Amino acid sequence: MAVMPSDFWSGWIILLTVISFIGLGWLVLSVYFLPSSQNHDGEEPVWDNNLTEGTSSPPFWWFWLILFMMVFTVVYLMLYPGLGSFEGAFRWSQGGQLSEHTAEFEREYADIEADILATPYIELTANNEAMNSAASIFSEHCSACHGAEAMGQANLFPNLIDDDWQWGGTAEQIEQTLRNGRLAVMISWQALLNDEGVDNVSAYVMSLSGSPDADHPGKAQNDMFCIACHGPTGDGNPLLGAPRLNDDLWLYAGDLDSIKASIANGRSGQMPAFGDLLDDVQIRLLTAMLLNN
Ligand code: HEC
Ligand code: HEC
Repeated sequence: MAVMPSDFWSGWIILLTVISFIGLGWLVLSVYFLPSSQNHDGEEPVWDNNLTEGTSSPPFWWFWLILFMMVFTVVYLMLYPGLGSFEGAFRWSQGGQLSEHTAEFEREYADIEADILATPYIELTANNEAMNSAASIFSEHCSACHGAEAMGQANLFPNLIDDDWQWGGTAEQIEQTLRNGRLAVMISWQALLNDEGVDNVSAYVMSLSGSPDADHPGKAQNDMFCIACHGPTGDGNPLLGAPRLNDDLWLYAGDLDSIKASIANGRSGQMPAFGDLLDDVQIRLLTAMLLNN
C-alpha cells in the first residue's frame, strides 16, 4: 500500500490526477472532433510567399494510441496502487511482494537451517558445503582483521589456525568469543617495574618457552605481578584472555622489543561482538570451521 503522510495529501494527489486526466481528454477531443475556432475565410494566410500555417489535424493513429493509453491508465489505476493511497483491486505492493518472497525463502531454508543447528560440530567440519559457506562468511566479516587465511596479521590480530587459544578453544568458548566479542586488558607495567625490571621480566618471559632459570632476575617480579593472570608456569588463563607465555606463539610478535613493549605499555586487544550481525547458523558454521583449524 502506498504510504501517504495523511489523507489530505492522498486526496490532493487523486484530485490532481483526475483533473489532469480530464484535461488531457478534453484536449484530445478538441483537437480531433471540435470544429476549429479559427476563422477560415477560404484563404490560408501566406508569409514570405511560401510559408503557410499547418492547420491540418495530426494523424489519426495518434488518436487511437492516446485513447489506448488512457484506457490502460484507468485500468491500471483501478488494479494497482497509484491513485493516492488507493491500494488497487489487486492490493499489490512492493513490500507485500518482498514479504511473500521472504516467506517463501524462509520456508525453503528453515529445514536446512534446523539441520545445521542440529548437526554436531564434527560433522559440520567434515562437510565441504558447510565449510565453503563458513569460508565465505569468514572472508566477508573476519578476514579484514584476521587475514584471508585466518593466519592473523600485523601482530595485532591473532592467528586463528595455530591451535593456541587466548580465550579458549572449545566450541562454547569460541562461540562466546564470536557472539559477545572480547576485550583483553593488560595494564602498563613500566611505572611499577622501571626499565630494568621490564628488561629482566621480558627476558624471563622469553625464557618460559624454553627452560626457565629458577635464579633468573626477572622471576621474582614475574611471580609477584604476572602469575595471577598468566599462571605460575605461563600457561595463561582463558577466562581473562591472558595468553600463554610459554609456547613461543605470540599475538604481538615474539622478539625482545615487542615483548618489552607489551609489558611496558600494556595491551588491550578488542575482538568485536558479532551476536547481532550474524545469525545462529552463521555463528555455528564459523565455530565449526575454527574448531577444525
Ligand atoms: C590482569 C591480568 C594480567 C596481568 C597481571 C598481567 N597480564 Fe600480561 N596479559 C594479560 C592479557 C589479558 C593479555 C592479552 C592482551 C591482548 O590480547 O591485547 C596479556 C598479554 C601479555 C603479553 C603479550 C603476549 C603475546 O602473545 O603477545 C605479554 C608478553 C605479557 N602479557 C606479559 C606479562 C607480564 C610480564 C606480566 C607481569 C609483569 C603480565 N603480563 C601481567 C593479562 C595480564
Ligand atoms: C576489527 C577487527 C576484527 C574483526 C572484524 C574480527 N576480529 Fe576476531 N579478533 C580481533 C582481535 C583484535 C582479537 C584479539 C583480542 C584480544 O587481544 O584478546 C580477536 C580475537 C578473536 C578470537 C579469539 C582468539 C583466541 O585465541 O582466543 C576469535 C576466535 C576470533 N577473533 C574470531 C573472529 C571471527 C570468526 C571473526 C569474523 C566473524 C572475527 N574474529 C572478526 C579482531 C577482529
